[in-house]
Amino acid sequence: MIVCANCGQENPEQAKFCFACGQPLEAAPSGSRDERRIVSVVFVDLVGFTGRAEKLDPEDVRAVLSPYHDLVRSELESFGGVVEKFIGDAIMAVFGAPTAYGDDPERAVRAALAVRDAVREADERDLHLDLQLRIAVNTGEALVSLGARPALGEAMVAGDVVNTASRLQGAAPVNGVIVGRETYGATKDAIHYEPTSPVEAKGKSQPVMAWIAIEPTVPAGTRRQTGVLVGRGPELDLLRGVWERVAIERVPHLVTVLGPAGIGKTRLAQEFGETVEELGGRSVQGRSLPYRESSAYFGFAMQVKQLCGIFESDPSDVGLAKLHERVADVSSAADVEKVTRHLAILLGLDREGSVEDREELFFSVRVFIESVAAHKPTLLVFEDIHWADRSLLDLIELLAARLRNLPVLILTLARPELLDSRPAWGGGLPAYSALPLAPLSPEESRELAEHRLANLSNEDLARLAQTAEGNPLFIEQLVATIAEAASAQSDSLPTTIRGLVSARLDALPAEERSLLLDAAVVGRTFWRGALERIGDGDRLSERLGALEGRDLIVRDTGSIMEGEQQYAFKHVLIREVAYELLPRADRQDRHARVAEFFEASTAEVGEAVAALARHWRDAGHPERAIPYFVQAGEQAERGWAKDQAAVLYNEALELVPETDAEQLAKVRRKLAMALAAAVHIPDARILMQEG
Ligand SMILES: Nc1ncnc2c1ncn2[C@@H]1O[C@H](COP(=O)(O)OP(=O)(O)O)[C@@H](O)[C@H]1O
Ligand SMILES: [Mg+2]
Repeated sequence: MIVCANCGQENPEQAKFCFACGQPLEAAPSGSRDERRIVSVVFVDLVGFTGRAEKLDPEDVRAVLSPYHDLVRSELESFGGVVEKFIGDAIMAVFGAPTAYGDDPERAVRAALAVRDAVREADERDLHLDLQLRIAVNTGEALVSLGARPALGEAMVAGDVVNTASRLQGAAPVNGVIVGRETYGATKDAIHYEPTSPVEAKGKSQPVMAWIAIEPTVPAGTRRQTGVLVGRGPELDLLRGVWERVAIERVPHLVTVLGPAGIGKTRLAQEFGETVEELGGRSVQGRSLPYRESSAYFGFAMQVKQLCGIFESDPSDVGLAKLHERVADVSSAADVEKVTRHLAILLGLDREGSVEDREELFFSVRVFIESVAAHKPTLLVFEDIHWADRSLLDLIELLAARLRNLPVLILTLARPELLDSRPAWGGGLPAYSALPLAPLSPEESRELAEHRLANLSNEDLARLAQTAEGNPLFIEQLVATIAEAASAQSDSLPTTIRGLVSARLDALPAEERSLLLDAAVVGRTFWRGALERIGDGDRLSERLGALEGRDLIVRDTGSIMEGEQQYAFKHVLIREVAYELLPRADRQDRHARVAEFFEASTAEVGEAVAALARHWRDAGHPERAIPYFVQAGEQAERGWAKDQAAVLYNEALELVPETDAEQLAKVRRKLAMALAAAVHIPDARILMQEG
């Protein structure tokens, strides 16, 4: 039996696609089905409906509630939420599980606002309904049962985050959306909030901080782009070189900028767009959306609208008139009617229209773009095409393949996932370039951090460089947490970063992902043999190779474990987030197997012993960890690493039970000697130099 991760439907073992929702099915990964995840919980409840229901016939109650439930559910689902349950007339939905999209808190708040508006509209249409709502959104860590089937009413998430959401909900204004602190922090750049007084919640020692969500301040799937540009000189030079060839030699070119979320794709495209305009060209942007896209060609439709001066707010007939005028302006008379008709379909201006086949539609697009570019060199930017519908990707490739002798540069931006669904993207085109966007260098990262917040301490800067992976978005987020450090605990990762990295992990094929979680327990550096002990070892080389290919891990040329292939996580962040996903019991279990791996290996020296000690400790076996900590300490002492030894003895001491006086005394004595020696080493050095 395979349970669909998308809708909870059970499917027979041999099924490749879910027969309820059509999503591809993946065999359940072995081992744990529980994970600790950051989720955003949305609670929607009707105000005063119970009282009303008392006076109504049960059939009438259902006649009101059932369409209301459907409406709320479809709004929540359209933003990627999973409706977990209906409790009476309250509805609870989860964002960020079973799959994280990276912007889950923002989706949750947008969904909540959309629910509010949709129910208000329904009320206006049908005056008898008179439904009033209270909505809350709360974000936090929860234990998620990935095997749960919400469709069958099984609970998927458990944790304080759920209870707090329900408490907040009670304090929301009528027809308002209230959010907790984590949600506010993760979304305040995209949503306008007003402050409200903290909410006293039963069972909580402190009142819960809360804000009222008013409306989104940026379109879905975008961020505000501000501040100075750091680095990216070589990339801009390269793009400029391509542009000059395109504009002068009239050779169309497709460029795809590839990189993870937040690396700076949009920013680069924006800077380049300005350059193009300065050079006398024209630049138009279109974007694919992660959710609620209105048509398959949405990204292209945005560009055509810009080219024709059509606004979203224009009524259809105004839009059509503008389209017609523009097409008549640029195209030869013979094509005008047909091209206008076809583009109107693509733009959603003509909802009844249809075409016989796609080729015809694409042909009209080509005619239009050809005539536009004939007047002025043109840059078409397609953002976030990893979210694009297949039809749009086909359209882009077709344009790139068929346009001839025209100054058109098609610039597409995508996360590397694009290549999972379209491995041959760009292949076979006459002029295609892939431009992988590298992380900022340590110096650039530092420069960006200092631009965002003056007077950062060296310590903060070092930590930033360590965790941010040269990702400008992560740098901004980390700087923001440092700025607020007085209130937040600054050593835990900001929710936004954890969300984005989780989304990267969730996008992996299940077996690669589970391998990465296992490796995270071993450490930043890990060995093949350790993975064999933890997991099933099935097709291990292949999975390791795939992860290497994705640039998530690197294979080291040497190994500190004899005869063991050694690997390392490319980024500490990925390891950290992967590790945090594992529930405590699973972590302990895996730590024990890693410890066994170390014991079985022949390595007797240094780091291996200390690692062994720490794995036994984290496996929940302090009694097995203590002797190894002591042994590692003794080894360190022999190498005159006295302060290192002191650290190790200290770690041992923390594990010795208070009742074991003999062992306490023994370890304390060793610690004291090491400390004394560590203090005297500088003196001894001076003596030696003087002598
Ligand atoms: N080179 C850069 N210098 C300064 N800020 C940058 C740079 N690249 C990106 N940023 C900022 O980092 C954030 C994320 O960049 P963005 O272009 O939105 O990433 P992506 O489109 O790859 O997800 C934005 O706020 C952006 O302004
Ligand atoms: Mg972007």
